[in-house]
Amino acid sequence: MNRVYIKTYGCQMNERDSEAVAAMLRGRGYSMVDNEFDADVVLLNTCSVRDQAEQKAIGKTGYLTKRKRSNPDFLIGIMGCMAQNRGTELIDKLPDLDLLVGTQKFHAIPDHLDNIIATQKGLGPRPSTVVDLEEEEGSQNTIRQHISDERQVTAFVSIMQGCNMNCAFCIVPKTRGRERARPIEEIVDEIEELAEKGTKEVTLLGQIVNSYGRREIPIRNKKSPFVQLLEKVQDIKGIERIRFTSPHPRGFRQDLVEAYRDLSKLCEYVHLPAQSGSNRLLKLMNRPYSRERYLEIVDSLRTMVPNVYFSTDIIVGFPGETDADFEDTCDLFKEVSFDMAYIFKYSIRSGTPAAEMGDQISQEVKESRNQRLLGYLRESSLSRNESMVGTTQEVLIEGRAKRGELYVGKTRGYRNCLMPASDRLVGELVKMKVDRATQSTLYGDLILSGIDETDTQPVSLSNSN
Ligand code: 5AD
Repeated sequence: MNRVYIKTYGCQMNERDSEAVAAMLRGRGYSMVDNEFDADVVLLNTCSVRDQAEQKAIGKTGYLTKRKRSNPDFLIGIMGCMAQNRGTELIDKLPDLDLLVGTQKFHAIPDHLDNIIATQKGLGPRPSTVVDLEEEEGSQNTIRQHISDERQVTAFVSIMQGCNMNCAFCIVPKTRGRERARPIEEIVDEIEELAEKGTKEVTLLGQIVNSYGRREIPIRNKKSPFVQLLEKVQDIKGIERIRFTSPHPRGFRQDLVEAYRDLSKLCEYVHLPAQSGSNRLLKLMNRPYSRERYLEIVDSLRTMVPNVYFSTDIIVGFPGETDADFEDTCDLFKEVSFDMAYIFKYSIRSGTPAAEMGDQISQEVKESRNQRLLGYLRESSLSRNESMVGTTQEVLIEGRAKRGELYVGKTRGYRNCLMPASDRLVGELVKMKVDRATQSTLYGDLILSGIDETDTQPVSLSNSN
């Protein structure tokens, strides 16, 4: 009765939350399995950012409840953003649900499961759904510490929860609540522990990382709390690479730009959501910056770090988006020449201001705008990758590729790499000579240290002359 499968929808924050829940459950004697068929308990960690993500999870739950007919002990839980967003309305739709847990109560899941299983053993009537959707002060501090002893080459670390922005399209302030930061020392402790177990790369996670700690932690030497945190992480022995996601263009100040120059571990890959290239639309979206300001940030980063990589989020088909607005987005997209981008078709989220706006855009128009941006992305991503053929890149090897004999890794610029390697090199930084590139992947061979171009003469030979 104690095999649990967690299925995760949505963002890295959700991945991180699922890892934390898994670690807590393992600590309670549950075992984690990697598919729903071997599980006695299936927990869905859900996403509400777009309707499609919610529909997928609802469909999955409906499908899983069929299994309860032949096995009433089989348990199903929904946790995370959709639980928070839709609340008990979900139980009306899915009456067989055993557990419904919000985004501030992940840490309570082991207790709830223990209780549900104990009640089941009493063979009483099926208890009604256990619901836990409250807010909890300090809950941002509960998503921490990887109890698992397994080594993770790369790890996500949650630095804050919630969001105080009010983007007109976005459900996240409702699902994740107000902004709350974890203390710097706790984050550093967690990363030190990860580093001791062999983690080489950390990605700091928050809805808007550059507003980290701005109410709790004072500015020092003109540096924001977020940059102070980055400096602390830079000093952690064993950590070789630092990434973060996502910053907001508002508040992306000079101290953060300079961090890319000053902190050697901070990877030169910036995911900076633009959402639109039209000033008119940015206003309607309640995004407090202009395309000019966005481009200025991009320029200042390029000046500071010439080989920087850029990635972004764009929404197409926001209510009222005209052809001219979309052309502005295309211009911005081409001007920056993004190396990576996540392009979303606007999805109505009830309860957000944009849901009430007139002039919703048709699915066909959203689709064609989406395709056009994807076309630009293919070009820019391919040309960036092709420009690397013949160069030597530093790659962190993450493991074996799913298929075939090759190993996978990433460059500092977050480009996927495939190369022949060995298990011994997993978790190591190696040098790869790129000999082939596609839009998504660099292929090449390892360069073993000591035999690169600058060091081809064995010392003993030159001495014996
Ligand atoms: N419709 C489509 N995309 C959305 N996003 C947020 N809300 C919506 C929505 N209602 C996108 C934004 C955000 C990313 C995580 O999801 O681009 O940056």
